[in-house]
Amino acid sequence: MEHVELNVELCNRDGLCAAVCPLGLLHMEGEGGLPLVREGMGAHCIGCGHCEAVCPTGALRLAEMAADPWPEIDRAALPSAEAVELLMRSRRSVRAFRETPLERAELAGLLEVTRWAPTGHNAQAVEWCVAPDRAAVERVAGAVVEWMAWACEERRDLARTLFLPGTVRAWRRGKDIVTRFAPNLAVCHVPDAGVTPEADGIVAASWLELAAHARGLGACWCGYVMLAREHPAVRAALAIPEGRVMAAAMMLGRPRVRYRRIPPRKPLSVAWL
Ligand SMILES: Cc1cc2nc3c(=O)[nH]c(=O)nc-3n(C[C@H](O)[C@H](O)[C@H](O)COP(=O)(O)O)c2cc1C
Repeated sequence: MEHVELNVELCNRDGLCAAVCPLGLLHMEGEGGLPLVREGMGAHCIGCGHCEAVCPTGALRLAEMAADPWPEIDRAALPSAEAVELLMRSRRSVRAFRETPLERAELAGLLEVTRWAPTGHNAQAVEWCVAPDRAAVERVAGAVVEWMAWACEERRDLARTLFLPGTVRAWRRGKDIVTRFAPNLAVCHVPDAGVTPEADGIVAASWLELAAHARGLGACWCGYVMLAREHPAVRAALAIPEGRVMAAAMMLGRPRVRYRRIPPRKPLSVAWL
């Protein structure tokens, strides 16, 4: 960010902006102890916005990022830690969906929140493609089954481990184990090179899953789509652009079931160093 705008009257010289910059681009050696972008370093800014977001007086502005003032965080409106943790523990993979697909606006609203998921070096390069109805999901699932049939011939060990012959037979009998009759599917894709593109996509999908649960919607990771992600027919059914790889796939829809209890999990395993 070449242009950090500083309101000298408002700046209290607390040094917070310099302290939070992940690349150390600011220092407090401007005139009178004001923050200053280090000589020639502005171009290295990753646009994370921390310097402006942390400033208690609103003295610093990154006008290139957004001309309007950024939303203030209303701490009183944040959920308690208990509420967030209950949301996380009560999330379940939903595999029984109602037939009606989610409205486009509802899907867009869910995906919108993933824009704030962290990305390596703040790359923000995660993009989505969404199957808006069952017919579109079925086209993807059909392409995945095509890959599975190939894998049954060519990659017998993997096919056996994952029960692929049974999944293919089920599909041919009209039972969809691949996408579980989900009415929607959201797939994120990322550049095939970068700092942490695949992790960025997986994190974003994880946020999507939690956002869906928070809204009472159902979501389930679709690992089968990911297994077949390099199959040309799968890429074509999802219209994945050249030079991009799929990072995660999520079935979505309105749940036909409600989980009432939280199943136990293996104990936490930690090595305290
Ligand atoms: C990367 C990943 C891939 C998954 N793929 C599938 C899948 O293809 N089909 C499916 O029904 N569930 C899939 N799941 C869901 C897991 O089976 C599920 O998370 C696990 O059984 C625990 O259940 P819970 O999510 O309800 O806690 C996947 C989960 C993850 C994290």
